[in-house]
Amino acid sequence: MSTARLEYNGNSWEFPVIEGSEKELGIDISDLRSKTGLITLDEGYGNTGSCRSAISYIDGDQGILRYRGIPIEQLAEQSNFMETAWLLIYGWLPNEEERKGFSELLTKHQMIHESMRSHFQGFPNNAPPMAILSAMINALGCFSPEVLGYEEGEFNFEESAARLLSQVRSIAAATYKMSIGQPMMYPREFKYCENFLHMMFSVPHGRYTPDPDVARALNQFMILHADHEQNCSTSTVRMVASSGANMFASCAAGVCSLWGPLHGGANMAVIQMLEEIRTSGICAKDYMEKVKQKDSKLRLMGFGHRVYRNFDPRSRILQKTADVILAKLNISDPLLDIARHLEEVALKDSYFIDRKLYPNVDFYSGIILRAMGIPLNMFTVMFAIGRMPGWIANYKEIHDATRLKISRPRQIYTGETKRDYVPREERG
Ligand code: ACO
Repeated sequence: MSTARLEYNGNSWEFPVIEGSEKELGIDISDLRSKTGLITLDEGYGNTGSCRSAISYIDGDQGILRYRGIPIEQLAEQSNFMETAWLLIYGWLPNEEERKGFSELLTKHQMIHESMRSHFQGFPNNAPPMAILSAMINALGCFSPEVLGYEEGEFNFEESAARLLSQVRSIAAATYKMSIGQPMMYPREFKYCENFLHMMFSVPHGRYTPDPDVARALNQFMILHADHEQNCSTSTVRMVASSGANMFASCAAGVCSLWGPLHGGANMAVIQMLEEIRTSGICAKDYMEKVKQKDSKLRLMGFGHRVYRNFDPRSRILQKTADVILAKLNISDPLLDIARHLEEVALKDSYFIDRKLYPNVDFYSGIILRAMGIPLNMFTVMFAIGRMPGWIANYKEIHDATRLKISRPRQIYTGETKRDYVPREERG
């Protein structure tokens, strides 16, 4: 085993270098503090491996993403969301019996508890769907006793995972229906994505018949969002799970983390940005100049990624899907033209080239969702439905670990040193 040497203050220590299955190297500093009294400081965790995981693999320099070893391009082309979910959660592609059993379990759990339907009425009509989703996922746990137990024998992983995967789409669709004052639709005999579209767009007097191409594009959208190693929301799920919290609580926390505009919220922010450009009439080049100003705080949303320093393979697939789905639905979206133009300008601009900023998964995904009729405020919810298998798979790694180790980072304290309490009457 190779080692790395640390020298400090005249002392030197050796630390093992760990190699992953794709030859990634990391220095194992588990006993750094006990040996040296030092800790590491890595704000934003850009250089920190927080765990060993066998779920997804990214090579950010080469634009590679694989789920359980299988390239994302192959899954997007040949798989569907439920099969990919199984692959992520259990580690292999399901055989016929497993596929059928999983599908039956998802169907069994697709309806939300009737009492939960009244919970929706407690939210104002304009409540952010991500807030409702997170709250309702937690509430779901209360109706599923098999979820809350953590001790062996009490907790049924298969049932809980299927319940969460299946009901997250029912909750999402119900949230939308409530926000527009329409009755919530019960699921039907459709497959996963078709059923979601039905619950979103059917009304009691008129059934929505899911278009196979739209369902295929939605499957692809979900597959491409299904996992992405230790991103902000997945790390949140693992962090919460590490305390022994149940699967639903852990994934509800993942939803909150995904909500932010620098993470899953970017898919909404991209469309808002494109709309702003369209209505203001500003040209792509001028907008880019504004983005580049040091103190503008403006970012080209849908560009840049902590790990991808080359292209994001998901954005390439989604760009093509956007073209296909718009053509199929005979939609001409001016925002797609603006997006293409922005990308063209950015890819030639030294600001973006030097910082290795390329379109990420969110740059084109919103155009596809818009074409499907998904409202803007539901975009990040769509991402959350897609990311659910990854969160569950990561939860499972924590749950299955032989020793539960709570995630508890250290800090470098920068506050006041010891000082005395000043009684109220003496404080000026
Ligand atoms: N537009 C303009 N400049 C950018 C952008 C952008 N989208 N992204 C990064 N930069 C610049 C920063 O201003 C910084 O410049 P400086 O070195 O002159 O200060 C440099 O590039 C590095 O940026 P960081 O914020 O340090 O990069 P980090 O890896 O921490 O951030 C992130 C990654 C959050 C994705 C960032 O690129 C960003 O904010 N992008 C826009 C939001 C977005 O699309 N998020 C979705 C990400 S994908 C996902 O979560 C599903």
